[in-house]
Amino acid sequence: MPRGSRAHQFVSLFLRFILLSIVQLFATFAQTHPPASLSDDSVRQAASALLQKMTLEEKIGQLTQFFAFEAPKDLDSKISRGEVGSMLFVPDPADRNRFQRLAMENTRLKIPLIFGLDVIHGFRTGFPVPIALAASWDPALITRAQSIAAKEAHAAGVDWTFAPMLDIARDPRWGRIIEGAGEDPYLGSAVAAAQVRGFQGDYIGAPDHLVACAKHFAGYGAAEGGRDYDASYISDSQLYNLYLPPFHAAVKAGVGTVMAAYMDLNDIPATGNRWLLRDVLREQWHFNGFVVSDANSVKSLATHGYAKDHADAAQIAFNAGVNMEMALTTNSYNENLLSLVRTGKITEEQIEDAARPILETKFRLGLFDHPYVDESRAAQILSTREHRTEARIAAERTAVLLRNEGHLLPLNKTAFKKIAIIGPTADSPHDTVGPWIFQEDLKETVTLVAGIRDKLGSEATVAFAPGVQISRVFPSFFDPIFHEPKPTPWAAKQIDDEMGKAVNLARSSDLTILVLGELQEMIGEGASRGSLDLPGREQELLERVISTHKPVVLLLMNGRPLNIRWATEHVPAILDIWYPGTQGGAAVANLLFGDASPGGKLPFTWPRNVGQVPISYAHNRTQAPEDQGKRYWDEASTPLFPFGYGLSYSSFQYSNLQLSRTQLKSGDALDVSVDLVNAGDIAADEVAQLYIHQQYGSASRPVRELRGFQRISLAPHEKKTVHFSLGKDELTYWNAAKKDWVLDSAAFDVWVGTNSDAQLHSEFATVN
Ligand code: NOJ
Repeated sequence: MPRGSRAHQFVSLFLRFILLSIVQLFATFAQTHPPASLSDDSVRQAASALLQKMTLEEKIGQLTQFFAFEAPKDLDSKISRGEVGSMLFVPDPADRNRFQRLAMENTRLKIPLIFGLDVIHGFRTGFPVPIALAASWDPALITRAQSIAAKEAHAAGVDWTFAPMLDIARDPRWGRIIEGAGEDPYLGSAVAAAQVRGFQGDYIGAPDHLVACAKHFAGYGAAEGGRDYDASYISDSQLYNLYLPPFHAAVKAGVGTVMAAYMDLNDIPATGNRWLLRDVLREQWHFNGFVVSDANSVKSLATHGYAKDHADAAQIAFNAGVNMEMALTTNSYNENLLSLVRTGKITEEQIEDAARPILETKFRLGLFDHPYVDESRAAQILSTREHRTEARIAAERTAVLLRNEGHLLPLNKTAFKKIAIIGPTADSPHDTVGPWIFQEDLKETVTLVAGIRDKLGSEATVAFAPGVQISRVFPSFFDPIFHEPKPTPWAAKQIDDEMGKAVNLARSSDLTILVLGELQEMIGEGASRGSLDLPGREQELLERVISTHKPVVLLLMNGRPLNIRWATEHVPAILDIWYPGTQGGAAVANLLFGDASPGGKLPFTWPRNVGQVPISYAHNRTQAPEDQGKRYWDEASTPLFPFGYGLSYSSFQYSNLQLSRTQLKSGDALDVSVDLVNAGDIAADEVAQLYIHQQYGSASRPVRELRGFQRISLAPHEKKTVHFSLGKDELTYWNAAKKDWVLDSAAFDVWVGTNSDAQLHSEFATVN
């Protein structure tokens, strides 16, 4: 073939294309697969070789982690003597390097420390809180958010995040409901895997990522009465079918570490629960990372009245399978394990087994080769424009539209010349970001007032009044550590004046945007409640603003369902914006004025009042299944909003539910399809949800169980056919009588629709 001929040109172009594709393929492979030095074999060998050189004391040292802010006085010498394997709460790269130098320069074998931090919903760039991320029903978004959180934290010297929190919660009195994905094990599992992928990347040690920690193993969300830390009593059936699945999903997604929970699970504290930590986690699930205790939870075994003293606690936790003790000030592993080995209660081999996965993790993370962090790098990585854009998009995609009478939303930008923004958190950066974030920049946080003002520019005047001041009845134990100084409480006269000012402002405006909910310190750890009412005088503020007869949009800032029953009868538009993160104000402004369209759905059932909790859509039938009125004589049994609920600025129609077959042999899968149409003139997202119900079988099964969902974007009037697959995984459940997983031969209902009340129905049967 002559050079320069058309054929020659074609062939050389083709070859170039093939070459480029191969290079690209390799590059993608390199990104998604660990290098050879991180193969399981290499890591295992490296850890074994190191363990052979280590003394018993050095091995024990690896099993201890200290908080930087409540550390023993002689922390530096402890690190230098190799008595510490990890530190937590060291968010500053210079501090990390200083601690790391103590380990690398003074210890005999130069074993690096691993640095952990609670990176829950962002590091500098604050994303919406975890319950909000779950409300997006968008695993890809959640992965992106957590990978940005990981990238920022990693640049600042963090190796390990104590997230995701995977505790299923059906009692919103429990403050930590905000840290999880809500009430459902199927949604919870999808969110768990998405978070692990985000934090860790494709493998542990992937560049710019962290090792994740599935917590709190297990059952913390069932704390009695919703009281934080109280005991959980959970049946076998509930454990396997409800509380454990998100943890199993995280393990399947390759999570590197697991945190043992604080509380008693069926009278055995989780931190001393060998069945959980060994039988389930290691034997049934083949977890091969390491287990860390919760803060002080090893010593707490004695406080619980389970261990005799701290030596006993160390022995119990260690035998149960806790590899590393997260300790405040003093620690029971370092103080007792040596003598427990010397007295023959624990063998050196057991100590070695406990230290091995910790060392393997350090090898995987590359800490031996790169123990230090470049102190100047964080500045280039934290809160880049790209990260802030992702945070804004996340806040837009997590919002849930609860009510929109008369299509008040989206607001017409030119229709309202005088806008009032009223509410105690509307201009508060701290509350906009929410709890459980430590490195956010409050100066760059866009509050609702700032976001709305920015959006409207000179098109309208925007005036703000807080209206009320709210506070906890009992202060938060985090106050001395994390919270800003509290504002001076208003005197009695100011309380009335501020309320009056706010109501007058509403009266003299064309529209009020009322922002109610809880302060960020009213939710989270140590923030359970006995009531779900709007705090302080918020309800009164709401009623007085509504009495002005001006249009009102209610924005809720919350991490749990609150008692908004009155609001749902009197306020035309209610949008749940959660704690939307550092770009919250910009996102909310886009949502209010139609530059973004809400598509989030509730990840929990919203009760009418606190007396209904715990409540879930996935309850069993009773002998009077349809007659809800028989349950309470003073209250309906139905919730205020069902699980999976969320409106849109558009409207959607479901039709043509098709099943690829109506009989399913075990091992077969069934395709369920449905046509979904955006029936409105606005581009919008819908989350199509699939629920099943096993009609009979070897156990009673819930009336509905989520078994599929997809968030779909549709242009105006666009139609898409949505497919779901149902097979063994979706139909199998844990049977308490058989003490095993079963797939019954039975008839099943299937529904597809917009929330857990979906009506489009069909049936199929399994034949084994
Ligand atoms: C206690 C909390 O229960 C846990 O979630 C957290 O990771 C640790 N403290 C460390 O901050």
